Amino acid sequence: MDAQHRWRLWRLGVFLAALAPLLIWGWQVASNAAGPEPGRYLLLNIGIGALWMLLLTLSLTPLSRLTRWKGFALIRRQLGLWTLAYATLHMLSYALFILGLDWAMLGSELVKRPYIIVGMLALIGLVLLGATSNRWSMRRLGKRWKSLHRLAYPILGLVLLHFFWVVRADLGEWAMYAAIAALVMATRLPPVARTLPRIRYRLSRAQA
Ligand code: HEM
Repeated sequence: MDAQHRWRLWRLGVFLAALAPLLIWGWQVASNAAGPEPGRYLLLNIGIGALWMLLLTLSLTPLSRLTRWKGFALIRRQLGLWTLAYATLHMLSYALFILGLDWAMLGSELVKRPYIIVGMLALIGLVLLGATSNRWSMRRLGKRWKSLHRLAYPILGLVLLHFFWVVRADLGEWAMYAAIAALVMATRLPPVARTLPRIRYRLSRAQA
């Protein structure tokens, strides 16, 4: 099998792995195995899924630096778009199952649950990143593209705030995600980012 074929299979594998949780949750709802509130079950699971996708997407650059494996860079755009897809489905499950598409209720909902505004801001940011994640936008925006895509960091902050606001009582799970996010962000600090290739070099020498 040639290299191009292998990379195509790798991307397909990632696509199927990212799709699988949605199919499983959908199947659980369809077969009445999603508990007494299937709508909320979908909303919460897809919300956590969106956070995972965002964290995975942001881990790819440090992982590339650490390993130099091309496969990580090859799935960056795909995972970024999966983050957007999960976040959009999460918002749609809110609109459908919680709001019941009763848009007149949205005003009072935003007052009662201001964390929704924070979630909306994060989603708007993700839409902006998704819309500019193509070669044409990269070429047009030039250097500004990189700055624009650094928006992913404040988006991660907004998502963690949104999540924190939802679970204020039980912070255990939130703290775990916040710790992973802090680690991922720490690997992007210039002094840490600079040491990643050195760690790779040392590891490869130790193996030789
Ligand atoms: C228009 C945008 C959004 C809306 C309307 C929204 C709405 C909600 C609602 C209603 C909840 C559940 C609150 C409850 O427990 O009753 C929630 C939880 C959550 N949302 Fe969002 N959200 C939005 C955007 C996002 C985005 C962009 C992400 C991640 C990328 C996200 C991740 C989460 C997470 C991780 C939870 C907690 C799930 C849990 O407790 O297990 N949300 N959101």
